[in-house]
Amino acid sequence: MMRSLIAGCGGYLPERCVPNAALAAEFGIETSDEWIVERTGIRQRHIAAPGETASAMGSAAARQALERAGIEVSAVDAIIVATATPDSAFPATAVRIQQQLGITRGFAFDIAAACTGFVYALSVADAMIRTGQARCALVIGTEVFSRILDWTDRGTCVLFGDGAGAVVVTAGEGEGKSTDRGILSTHLHSDGRHGDILLVDGGAGSTGGTGLLRMAGKEVFRHAVSKLAAVVDEALAANGLGHGDIRWLVPHQANLRIIEAMGRKLNLPRERVVVTVGQHANTSAASIPLALADAAGRGMIERGDLVALEAIGGGLTWGAALVRF
Ligand code: ACO
Repeated sequence: MMRSLIAGCGGYLPERCVPNAALAAEFGIETSDEWIVERTGIRQRHIAAPGETASAMGSAAARQALERAGIEVSAVDAIIVATATPDSAFPATAVRIQQQLGITRGFAFDIAAACTGFVYALSVADAMIRTGQARCALVIGTEVFSRILDWTDRGTCVLFGDGAGAVVVTAGEGEGKSTDRGILSTHLHSDGRHGDILLVDGGAGSTGGTGLLRMAGKEVFRHAVSKLAAVVDEALAANGLGHGDIRWLVPHQANLRIIEAMGRKLNLPRERVVVTVGQHANTSAASIPLALADAAGRGMIERGDLVALEAIGGGLTWGAALVRF
């Protein structure tokens, strides 16, 4: 039977790195390194240069993923981009990336699921590969959140960063067993009743607003741990697996306290949880593929390892994927 394989991971971070201390000194935000580190684990974030777009960053991450996979750009027949900060409402950022990579065949489109966007995009790529609609897909998360932050709201502006991550997903074969390499399963959820606790106000259908991010942090926190633990358990159960089978947890990098709570719920020792939030802050849809690229670049993930991916974001949306590398 057909199975989707993750053949390579790549990442891109803008050159400018802003440590917490500089937020007070340079940006005039009433905050401190101590407050940010204690509440979130974030120490620094990268911020895109003026004019640097989600598509340019996504293309850079995609190039690295293809290079690491040893796959030519000409083999790509689908590009799926998760972003909440597209270059424009249309054309899709994915089509811009297609053009920047010099690809003129196949198809490209964007997915909107906020911080869960990468898991959604991976799920769609997996389904398309399994049904023969694509043989080689680029799945990309790319965000310039610095442009949708209210820099006068210290409760949110310190939490996010810019960046992009990408994976190459290719068609492979398997017997349908949990020991097979590839994406074992993906699990998606949403519940619009919680739409107002994390949103970007404004937009074309809006009666007014700023186009900036708003968040009820404590409420998001409350939903995060319970929903994420439940969806990872759902994924494990669907494959007849348990907590002890997870070699690496690669969570959405929103907040170290959420990540650590997840590690405890899943009975995972700290060293099995990939953590990049300290260096990257929350890069929304880019955070999981960036963390994967970081772990892969360090040689942490080995062939045969079971990796659990999970994310929650605006919508609310949440989801998980189990991948055997
Ligand atoms: N620096 C210094 N002080 C601050 C800052 C800051 N950057 N931001 C807020 N404060 C102050 C507040 O004004 C408040 O002061 P007061 O008590 O005098 O009124 C105090 O710190 C506590 O503020 P809270 O908002 O209650 O802080 P809380 O402990 O809830 O921490 C945080 C805020 C870190 C956002 C927390 O709610 C959280 O981790 N939420 C999870 C949500 C999350 O991580 N979202 C990321 C995006 S969503 C996603 O990716 C899924």
